Amino acid sequence: MIKNPTQMDNQFFNDAVLKAVAFLKSKELVAFPTETVYGLGGIASCDEVVQKIYTIKGRPSYNPLIVHVSCLEAAQDIGTFNERALFLAKQFWPGPLTLVVPLKKTANISFIARAGLSTVAIRVPSHLSAQAVLKKLEAPIVAPSANLSGYLSSTHYDHVYKNLHDKIAYILPNTHHFIGLESTIIDCTQKELTLLRPGFITAEDLNIYQLNLVLPADNRIKAPGATLHHYAPNLPIRLNATFPLNDQEAFLNFGHFTIEGFKKTLQLSEKADLNEAAYHLFSFLHILDQPDIYKAIAVAPIPDQGIGRAINDRLKRAAQPKI
Ligand code: TXA
Ligand code: MG
Repeated sequence: MIKNPTQMDNQFFNDAVLKAVAFLKSKELVAFPTETVYGLGGIASCDEVVQKIYTIKGRPSYNPLIVHVSCLEAAQDIGTFNERALFLAKQFWPGPLTLVVPLKKTANISFIARAGLSTVAIRVPSHLSAQAVLKKLEAPIVAPSANLSGYLSSTHYDHVYKNLHDKIAYILPNTHHFIGLESTIIDCTQKELTLLRPGFITAEDLNIYQLNLVLPADNRIKAPGATLHHYAPNLPIRLNATFPLNDQEAFLNFGHFTIEGFKKTLQLSEKADLNEAAYHLFSFLHILDQPDIYKAIAVAPIPDQGIGRAINDRLKRAAQPKI
């Protein structure tokens, strides 16, 4: 899973980063790996580039993008960090945490990318490729997940290639480890900190700092993009399944359910490890999403704790009917 770059790989890595930066500078779109999922990146200040991202993804214009920067200092050029936002940034950046903060008037971030809001979502990714590109480019990159709007996120080069290769300039190969789920998003613009999207950094991780994080009690749309139907394969999903109903259902298993002799099963984690399950979730859904073979994907129950909450959040949205 984790690959240590060799000398040869280093040369390959550097060339790929230089290529990506050159394309970004010439206002092209580049898909690049982050430690969460692949991002579809473009220069954050350029309306024309940002509009291209929305068009290619088929993304509604009301749904703002996350701005990616290389370090906290660069983030502070864009947003205003109060004491708690600063604490979170220092504690978890670089890493899979996105902070929503008030936008600075002087920040040069496309109005389209912000969907006209006076707040901005910012994240400092830890992935080596993302860091290398951001450092070399010396400019913020907006990057939604590199998938068509509403569809499964991309955790492998092949996923991006399948859906986007003919629409964008370049896809950076991935040589390093992925978490497999999008970043945790926290709104720091109000009196209370609010969790807008669960992710790898969990409410439990945050609670030890006694930050009084507010968890949305239901499925209310908190982040503009957190619509009910999201992260979905083409096939319908049936949740909390202990067994596939028939041989037209593919089965995504977790832990202890033994489906003897049933060939269409993929196991998220034999030892019921939630991190392992998060890592496999999107890539296994990509594999099982074959409407010419199956009629639905049944998914075993996932414990609703730690990163399991983020997994269940994605699965619940994926299981919602398209409206
Ligand atoms: O892990 C990630 O966050 C990945 C990688 C590529 O960085 N990116 C990602 O982007 O998941 P995307 O566009 O798929 O999801 C961004 C979410 C959306 O739900 C959007 O509504 C929310 O962030 N968002 C962006 N700006 C916001 C703002 N100002 N206030 C509230 N939510 C915001
Ligand atoms: Mg997305």
